Amino acid sequence: MEHRHRTIIEPFRIKAVEPLGITTRDEREVALQDAHFNPFLLRGEQILIDLLTDSGTGAMSAQQWASLMIGDETYAGSRSFYRLEAVVQELTGCKHIIPTHQGRAAEHILFSAVARPGMVVPSNSHFDTTRANCEFFGGLALDLLYDEAMDPRADLPFKGDIDLGKLREALTTYGDRVPCVIVTITNNRGGGQPVSMANLRATRDMCREFGVKFLLDAARFAENAWFIKQREPSQEHRSAREIAQEMFRLADGFTMSAKKDGLVNIGGLLCLNDDELADNCRTRLILTEGFPTYGGLAGRDLEALATGLEEVLDEDYLAYRQASIRYLFDRLDTLGVPMMRPPGGHAVYIDAAAFYPQIPAWQYPGLALTNQLYIEGGVRGVEVGTVMFGTQDPQGGHDVCAPLELVRLTFPRRTYTQSHVDYLIESLADVFAHRETARGYRIVKQRPILRGFSAWFEPL
Ligand code: F0G
Repeated sequence: MEHRHRTIIEPFRIKAVEPLGITTRDEREVALQDAHFNPFLLRGEQILIDLLTDSGTGAMSAQQWASLMIGDETYAGSRSFYRLEAVVQELTGCKHIIPTHQGRAAEHILFSAVARPGMVVPSNSHFDTTRANCEFFGGLALDLLYDEAMDPRADLPFKGDIDLGKLREALTTYGDRVPCVIVTITNNRGGGQPVSMANLRATRDMCREFGVKFLLDAARFAENAWFIKQREPSQEHRSAREIAQEMFRLADGFTMSAKKDGLVNIGGLLCLNDDELADNCRTRLILTEGFPTYGGLAGRDLEALATGLEEVLDEDYLAYRQASIRYLFDRLDTLGVPMMRPPGGHAVYIDAAAFYPQIPAWQYPGLALTNQLYIEGGVRGVEVGTVMFGTQDPQGGHDVCAPLELVRLTFPRRTYTQSHVDYLIESLADVFAHRETARGYRIVKQRPILRGFSAWFEPL
C-alpha cells in the first residue's frame, strides 16, 4: 500500500468480534483485592484491554480460520505437516523442520540434546524460558549486550545487537564448553529491540571461526526484519521477506515460539541443519511432544501456522504493527511518561521507578503502576521488575532487586484498534496525574521460584 495519508490504518476489517470485559471501578477494586493484588490472578472477563503479553493472544485471519478446516489430522505424515515444512523451508532455508507445542518445548529439547559438562551459552539476552532451560541442563546462560544498550534511555537503532568483543572473549575463555550461541530476535528481555543484519553476519562469522553453532530465538523474526528494513543502511530497498530469508540463512538453526510472529494461538518450531542433532532432537521429542510430524499440535494448528508464516511478512501489516506501538509511545512521551527508548517491536515499556520515584524497588513500583492502571481503566499490563526478577533476602531484609523496574504494555497482533489505544492513553494520563499519592506493596505469600505469577500482595 502506498501511504499517501498521514494515518497508517489497521490493514484489515473485522469479521468476528468478541466482547470486552466491561466493569466499573468499584468492581475492579473488588476484583483486584480478590486477586490478592496480583494481576496474573485476575480472570479474563474482568479485563477490558489485556496487554499482559503478545504471545498466543493475536487474531487469526479469515485465511487462517479456513486453514483450520482443511487441517489434516493424520497421526504420522499429515499433509498439513508437509505444507508447514515447505513454507518454513522456503522462508528459512533450514533442512529439518520439527514442530513443537510452543517455544519452550523446542528450547527444552534443544538444550537436552546439546548439553555438555560445564556448558556455557552466550546470547544477546536469553529470554526467561531459554535461560531456565539452559540452566536446567547445567548450563551457564550469558547475556552479552553492548553496555550502551543497557541504558533504557539511550535511543539507539539496534539495541539488541550482541557485543562482538564480549562474544569473542566468551568464546576464547570457554572454548569447547560452548555448544552454540543463541541470538534472540527481537530481544524481548531488552524491550523488543532489534538486531542488525551486520551484527547477525558478524556473529555468524565469529561462530564459524570458533566452530560453534549459531542459532536464533526467532519468536519475533518478522518485526526484526521490518526494523532492519527501516533502520539499517543499504537494507531499505529489500523486502521484509528477503531480509528475513537472509537472517535465517545466516544461522545453523533456530527455535521459535510461533505464538508471536507465527500469528497463531499455539505452536512452536525447532529447525536445524545438522542431521545428527536433528535426529537426536526428534528422538527426544517423541518422549514429550508426540510424533515428529506434529510435535504436540493438531494438524489444523500446523495448517494455521503455515498460513500465519506466509502472512506475517506482509509489509502493510508490519508498517501498521510498528506504527501502532510508536503511536502509543509518542503520545505517552508527550505527556512526559518515562519509558524505555526507542519503543520495541511488540511493546512499550514504562520506567516505573522514574514514574513513582517515591516507591523504592523493594516496594514494587511496577506492580503499583500495573494495579493503578487496572483500577483506572481495566487495562492489564505486566510488571517486569523486582516482583518478577528480584529474590527474597534470606536474612529477612529488603529483596535483592532487579536492575530495572518496568511495566510492559504488550500488544497482541491485529487485536485492538486505535480507539482502544486512545482509551489506554487517557487511563494512563489519569494514573500519571495522580502519581504523587501512589504507594507500594508488600508480599504476603510467595513461592521460592517464579514468584511473580502467583504471589499475594498487600498495599502499604
Ligand atoms: N523466546 C522469546 C523471545 C519469547 O518472548 C518467548 C515467550 C519464548 C521464547 C517462549 O515461548 O511462550 O511459546 O514457550 N514470551 C512470552 C512473553 C511468554 O510474554 O514475552 P513460549
